[in-house]
Amino acid sequence: MAVMEVAFDPHWREAWTRQQVANSLAMPHTYAILVDDAGGDLSDGKEAAGFILARRAPGEEELLLIGVRPDRRGRGIGRLLIERFADLARAAEAERIFLEMRANNPAESLYRSCGFEPIGRRKDYYRTLDGCFLDAITFARKL
Ligand SMILES: CC(C)(COP(=O)(O)OP(=O)(O)OC[C@H]1O[C@@H](n2cnc3c(N)ncnc32)[C@H](O)[C@@H]1OP(=O)(O)O)[C@@H](O)C(=O)NCCC(=O)NCCS
Repeated sequence: MAVMEVAFDPHWREAWTRQQVANSLAMPHTYAILVDDAGGDLSDGKEAAGFILARRAPGEEELLLIGVRPDRRGRGIGRLLIERFADLARAAEAERIFLEMRANNPAESLYRSCGFEPIGRRKDYYRTLDGCFLDAITFARKL
């Protein structure tokens, strides 16, 4: 939650609340990946630099949310998280991984360079703080 609170611009209303995260992690197939500054697993009370929330289903997995602290961006932590997620999905015998993003999210360049391709669009799926609507784009990557 410490990363969640600083990683997401409230304007886009993408961040989840503690309750939403807790509810989702209470489901048996939802999990989180947390890494420190160096991309390592959290240990010895280290602070998280980034996280992924993901959900597993038979044959596929979905990246629900990814965030990296603003002062730790541009160092490859986001890419490392995505590759760790892909490795876990592959180990669970998933054939495809998915994610969904608001249409104007600059993270698109990261997703595309990690091998994700757009496969669908949901019209006016997101509503910003000032009441504007934005499409959601679904991306998939074959493993
Ligand atoms: C998206 C996000 C997780 C990327 O984290 P990061 O640690 O900065 O990512 P990386 O350092 O691994 O970047 C990998 C590449 O993607 C590009 N990239 C990543 N985020 C970018 C952004 N916001 N704008 C433009 N390019 C971006 C980088 O330039 C880099 O390219 P390179 O490898 O060719 O140099 C981070 O920007 C973030 O937390 N954003 C806010 C939350 C959000 O929008 N999450 C996605 C929706 S759930």
